[in-house]
Formats: sequence, structure tokens, C-alpha cells
Amino acid sequence: SKGNHAHFMRKEIFEQPIVVAQTMQSYVRAFEGEVAIPSFEFDLSAVERVTVVACGTSFYAGMVGKYWIERFARVPVDIDVASEFRYRDPVLEPGGLALFISQSGETADTLAALRHAREKEQRIAVVVNVPTSSMAREADLLLPTRAGPEIGVASTKAFTCQLAVLAALATNLARAKGRLTGEEEREIVAHLQEAPEAMSHALNHDADIAAIAPLIAPARDVLYLGRGPDYPMALEGALKLKEISYIHAEGYAAGEMKHGPIALIDDQVPVIVLAPSGPLFEKTVSNMAEVRARGGRIVLISDAAGIAAAGEGCMATIEMPEVHPLIAPLVYAVPVQLLAYHVAVLKGTDVDQPRNLAKSVTVE
Ligand code: F6R
Repeated sequence: SKGNHAHFMRKEIFEQPIVVAQTMQSYVRAFEGEVAIPSFEFDLSAVERVTVVACGTSFYAGMVGKYWIERFARVPVDIDVASEFRYRDPVLEPGGLALFISQSGETADTLAALRHAREKEQRIAVVVNVPTSSMAREADLLLPTRAGPEIGVASTKAFTCQLAVLAALATNLARAKGRLTGEEEREIVAHLQEAPEAMSHALNHDADIAAIAPLIAPARDVLYLGRGPDYPMALEGALKLKEISYIHAEGYAAGEMKHGPIALIDDQVPVIVLAPSGPLFEKTVSNMAEVRARGGRIVLISDAAGIAAAGEGCMATIEMPEVHPLIAPLVYAVPVQLLAYHVAVLKGTDVDQPRNLAKSVTVE
């Protein structure tokens, strides 16, 4: 049931601190300050390359995962949307690790890609929310998300739980590759464990975000910008908005904007900027100046320090708690989900069952 929420999507957005904590519990030994993925019969230290395949929101989780795996484990990651993967005849050395990410575990393209990878003698790891699904059954290494059933067609809590699992996997791989000291691992674990509470703080801004929705609802086009792991979060924000509000939205790497999309910017196009303070912040701020110089109206999602530094002249700001860059994607998922939700409610769309979309896409 939806409980006291108007929609399943809203209920599922608000469940995130609990289900992310629940998911992390399966992968983190808090007392020891270690991550632990289930044991399996191949040696992670031998992994030289990871191939990630998924669709839609799960693909964006994979993009964040690529960032983490390369950063912490220094193992190169290839990533494809599943519908492209098989047909480009990817180079897969036998014994490589192929990682499939899916809420349903039934998405036809992702399942076909998994079987293709199996034929190419890849080790199959699967991050999946439905433990009885086809993908779960066909995995060598099953990494379940513990989001519970997701009813809203737009994925929310399954996504943040995927991120939690991918952060744990990246950390485990880094340890296996000898790229992390015990102290560094303890720090990562401590940051991961801060995520659920930080997500709760983000949820406290629900009313502020509802108040911003009327500024977005009349737009025909909306741009989302982010850098580093917040670039896939910009893509995810744009996907959420277009799925449930039917407003055309695009996510861009902030630095890529001047290579084309800047031509779209005028005072009719809201630009949502995801910019937690940190090493990439200043670069994104200079992209904001380019938007502003063309009359663009910015909604800045950042922390108090970021808003103090760059909030002036923005149409609106949404304040997130100050968090370590590692967990920023988990926290910044919340405002982009809520913004899409409130805009869709204003537009009167069918939030839980948007037109033309199915929860599980079982045809190619
Ligand atoms: C977006 C959404 C879709 C799914 C995609 C993959 O909100 O729900 O983009 O993420 O269809 O589905 P799964 O994860 O079940 O393979």
C-alpha cells in the first residue's frame, strides 16, 4: 500500500534511507570497518577489466559505478547500454568480469547481453532487486539490492540501492587489487554509513522542492548539468523528469555544454545544476556563469558552502547536507527525484504509470 503517500513513487523516494541502510548492511561490516561481498569461486584480484551493461536508470547507476571502480580499484571499466552491447561485437577476453545491473532482473536486452557475455566466457556478476529473477538465477556472483518491491514505474529506491552495492563492490575490488590500506577502507565504510542519514536530511527539503516545481512545470525544455559522478546524476535527473512529467530534458556533462547545448539556452530554459562542493565545484561554477550570461535560469543543488559561493543570481537553490564526494550521488538522487515528482504532480500526469512505459521491458 501507499501508506499516507499520494503515490507509490513518493513512498519509494521516502523509503530510501531505510532500504539503502538495509542494502549496506549486507555489504558492510561496520565494526571491522570493512566491506564484504558474497564469496564466489573466482579471484577478484585477477580481474583486469570490468564490462558493465544495463538499461535506463540502471545504466546511470553503472556510470557512477565505473567512476568508483576506476577511481578506487584502478581497473578499467567499459560500459554499454544493453541494446548496443551485443551488436557491436565487444572485445571480451576470457575470464573477464561482466557486471549487469537491473531492478527487475528481466529486461530483455540486459538478459540477452548477459547470455552473450556468458558465451564469451565472462564471469557474470549481477546487481539485481528481484532475487527470483532470470538474471539472479544466471549469475556467478549475485549482488542483491534490498530495496523491496518497487511499484512506481520510474525507478527511485532501486537506483540508490544499486549505488550502495556498486560502492561496496568498487571498494572490495580495490582491496583485492591491493589499492587500499585498511585505514582507507575504514574511511570509505564510515562515509558509506553516513549516506542514509544524509538522504534523510535531503528528504527534509521536500517542501522547498515542491515550491520550486512551479518554476519548472511551464518549461518546454530543461537541462541538467553535473561533473564527475554527478554527470550520470544529471542524466538520471533528466530521465526522471521526462518520464513522468513529459517535459523534454537533457543531462549533460557540465563542461560539454559549450560544445553545443549552450545554443539552446535562453530565459525559457531552466538549467538544473548538481554541484556538491569539492574538487570539481569551481569548474562547474564557471559553466554556471556561461549559462547566466545567456539569460539562463539556474536551479543550483549544492551544500551550504556551495550555495554561499555560487547561489547568487540563481532562480532557486536546493540545499543538501555537506557530504563526502563518495556518497554525493546517493544524496543528490533525492532532490532530482523529488523535483521530477512535484513537477509531474503539478502537470497532473499519471506519476506511477506514465504513458507508454512499462515497469519491466521484456521485449528487445
Ligand atoms: C527509469 C526506468 C527505466 C529502467 C530500465 C531498466 O526510471 O525505470 O529506465 O531503469 O527499463 O530496467 P531494469 O533495471 O529493471 O533492468
